[in-house]
Amino acid sequence: MEVGFGRGVGRKGNGMMRERMKTEEKMRWNTMTLEFESRPCNESFARVSAAAFLAQLNPTVEEVADVKTAISEAVTNAMIHGYRQEKGKIQMKCVLDLEEKVFQVTVKDTGVGIENVEKAMEPMFTTCPELERSGMGFSFMEAFMDDLEVESVLGQGTTVHMKKKLGTTSWIEQEE
Ligand SMILES: Nc1ncnc2c1ncn2[C@@H]1O[C@H](COP(=O)(O)OP(=O)(O)O)[C@@H](O)[C@H]1O
Ligand SMILES: [Mg+2]
Repeated sequence: MEVGFGRGVGRKGNGMMRERMKTEEKMRWNTMTLEFESRPCNESFARVSAAAFLAQLNPTVEEVADVKTAISEAVTNAMIHGYRQEKGKIQMKCVLDLEEKVFQVTVKDTGVGIENVEKAMEPMFTTCPELERSGMGFSFMEAFMDDLEVESVLGQGTTVHMKKKLGTTSWIEQEE
């Protein structure tokens, strides 16, 4: 009788613990998704929106600037290369890990896609030299963020995933 009672309490206790862990896990993440048209004015809209969302993690001025530059490059690529300056939809999804202070962003287009992703990511590689492109977009994304992954299917579109952990800049670097 007592043993059974004991077990019952144990099960209930575990259930409550699981519920608490589930709630804590939900509290850990904050997400935001934007969908906008491929128009030059929406490039600044996208980077400013992401920066405003990121503000809740108390980033440094430098971290905000890094994120804005990387997003600007990814969104410009979707407009110029993905949609070849024609109409199309771009989706930007931001995820914040509030516990670990990590910012994740995905920029997706359903444009022409990239034939050879590895080659496209090489510094100074561009398929549009006539538009005075420097071929450094992916290199900047790589330099300013901690992680960059590019998925692309020819004729179907491109998705760029980026991640940045905040709070890794030492105060000495910040003072400079
Ligand atoms: N979203 C995209 N859709 C199609 N092609 C892309 C996309 N993003 C990048 N590319 C290809 O990758 C190349 C390199 O991109 P990037 O490093 O930003 O240099 P740039 O934009 O100056 O050409 C581009 O010239 C283009 O061929
Ligand atoms: Mg570019």
